Amino acid sequence: MAASVDISVEFGKLRLGNPVFTASGTCGYANELGQFMDIDCLGGFITKSITAKPRKGNATPRIVETDAGMLNAIGLANIGVERFIEEKLPILGKMKAAAFVNVAGETIEEYVTVVARLANDERIAGFELNISCPNVERGAIMFGTIPEQVTEITSAVKKAAGQKMLMVKLTPSVTDIAVIAQAAVDAGADALSLINTFTAMVIDIKTRRPVLANRTGGLSGPAIKPIAVYLVNKVYNEAAKARGIPILGMGGIRTASDAVEFIIAGASAVAVGTASFIEPGCAAKIIDGIGKYCAENGIASVKELVGSLQG
Ligand SMILES: Cc1cc2nc3c(=O)[nH]c(=O)nc-3n(C[C@H](O)[C@H](O)[C@H](O)COP(=O)(O)O)c2cc1C
Repeated sequence: MAASVDISVEFGKLRLGNPVFTASGTCGYANELGQFMDIDCLGGFITKSITAKPRKGNATPRIVETDAGMLNAIGLANIGVERFIEEKLPILGKMKAAAFVNVAGETIEEYVTVVARLANDERIAGFELNISCPNVERGAIMFGTIPEQVTEITSAVKKAAGQKMLMVKLTPSVTDIAVIAQAAVDAGADALSLINTFTAMVIDIKTRRPVLANRTGGLSGPAIKPIAVYLVNKVYNEAAKARGIPILGMGGIRTASDAVEFIIAGASAVAVGTASFIEPGCAAKIIDGIGKYCAENGIASVKELVGSLQG
């Protein structure tokens, strides 16, 4: 990389060495990708979703490949916050990357329990709230689809998060994502991440049954990238820019050019998800590629690129 290029970014109150994170659920709890790449090269790391109690997740099959993507219905399988603290946090704490714990739950109380348990831990930089979960107290409607619910959950968690950064992760399965983003920001979100997966279905035409045991799953990968870029730009313009709220953009990022598109659209940082299954360690190549793009295009700092969409 050209020495003159500065690829560090500001992400809210954090200063990150570069704008590349790994996305929740695609890189385990801590250092599972360690044999494929130097995890310390990342700007940020996000754990898979952690809940208050351990969860086995959904029945299998729970992933299926599609054209240019995949569907997953993992069902939040995880070891629960107590085992996470005991077994995984010590590994996470040794990382140079800013560590975010992704939090999920079935009730607002469950989210608050997990966040409160971790809020004073110096090993983490903040939380990413996965609000694409069904709210069992409200007829299993996803938390992230109704502005009033987003307000309620964000403000409850914000109180529990103390000084830690609170990033709210938006689902694209809504009529107007900017309205949801605005609700999260008004309720105290320090950052927004988008997008989570799109609910989708694949059918086995021999059995005429859905391939996934859960019937539906979340679509991710290159297939969703142009929609994700559009939604990042919309949220940047309509909810984030005026308030100085940073966006973590994701959805189908596979190359440095993909990452640069998200940054131009308004993301201060990006996360790599499904692409890590095809090429573990591609996040490191993306970091190098962003530096090369800047050098080749006379851009001294990647910060200049954020939200620089013309026309
Ligand atoms: C196998 C798999 C598991 C995932 N698990 C989680 C999760 O636990 N929590 C979460 O917030 N998002 C989860 N996601 C969503 C990703 O973090 C990301 O938002 C989405 O996949 C879009 O990015 P991508 O196309 O680069 O994968 C998961 C995605 C995949 C493919």
